Amino acid sequence: MSLLLHLILYLLLLTVVIGDILRPRFYSETCPDAESIVRREMKKAMIKEARSVASVMRFQFHDCFVNGCDASLLLDDTPNMIGEKLSLSNIDSLRSYEVVDDIKEALEKACPATVSCADIIIMASRDAVALTGGPDWEVTLGRKDSLTASQQDSDDVMPSPRANATYLIDLFKRFDLSVKDMVALSGSHSIGQGRCFSIMFRLYNQSGSGKPDPALEPDYKNKLNKLCPLGGDENVTGDLDATPLVFDNQYFKDLVSGRGFLNSDQTLYTTQETREYVKLFSEDQDEFFKAFEEGMVKMGDLQSGRDGEIRFNCRVANRRPIDVLLES
Ligand code: HEM
Repeated sequence: MSLLLHLILYLLLLTVVIGDILRPRFYSETCPDAESIVRREMKKAMIKEARSVASVMRFQFHDCFVNGCDASLLLDDTPNMIGEKLSLSNIDSLRSYEVVDDIKEALEKACPATVSCADIIIMASRDAVALTGGPDWEVTLGRKDSLTASQQDSDDVMPSPRANATYLIDLFKRFDLSVKDMVALSGSHSIGQGRCFSIMFRLYNQSGSGKPDPALEPDYKNKLNKLCPLGGDENVTGDLDATPLVFDNQYFKDLVSGRGFLNSDQTLYTTQETREYVKLFSEDQDEFFKAFEEGMVKMGDLQSGRDGEIRFNCRVANRRPIDVLLES
């Protein structure tokens, strides 16, 4: 093999192993207002529809767990690619994609082709938390956007609302996230809503028993039965905790009193290994905020090492994977 070929292979390997190097204030020279533009657009979105910031915050989880934080989630399907938008966890559920479009448009005006969609998701998720009363933290930036997306890859990873704590502990471990990280990150359900579709089985047929989940507090169960009757519209939504517009530790207090909306939430209190963290966070909001920040930063570091780009439009890749092959 020629020396040149060796060198190319070595460089390729290096990008695969290292991925993009992320750092705070990555855009301080190239787009100094990037972070304030994202925050401004998120504020606008929140004023227009309060829930939308929670919906955008969810993107970080659904993006980063599927081949790293690379905005693959945002790609629309093409004739050659079925992307993540149609996957089991995302279809009819993820929403507020237009908020990211608005942010991208504002950034393209200020500094064209500079800020990646993957970084927008990370900044906007942080802003969603800060704007609803939660902690504010510094994010590392410099991610690239994926060239492709796969429905199957999302289906293979994203957990169902039926998941129990043991399953979730194992899943998060695969991403180097600890039990504490997992419980803290589930605290993201301090804001936002879920559909009846996600809880019908636990209201009427938990684990095939023909009965409701016994962990449900009776008054709360009655409330959910009214919201989500058998045979009713399963797209009706309910609050994930008692204060769905405020990022606080109410979610954990609700779990302690049997008022968790999703099965995956309530199981964090009924399972020994996660229960202590639920109790801790329900009693000490600062501990929750600290652990949540740490979890979000760790999750934001997930990278696939695949080749990437800065998209002009978050829904469409500039280059196709085949173009990349032809370029090399
Ligand atoms: C631990 C495993 C998790 C499971 C099983 C899970 C599952 C779900 C489900 C089923 C919904 C409601 C979807 C619907 O009914 O349409 C939901 C909503 C939500 N999830 Fe998670 N989730 C998990 C972790 C996370 C994480 C780590 C984050 C972010 C850091 C997150 C953020 C959100 C937010 C903000 C909402 C509300 C979105 C809205 O109002 O549009 N979730 N989640």
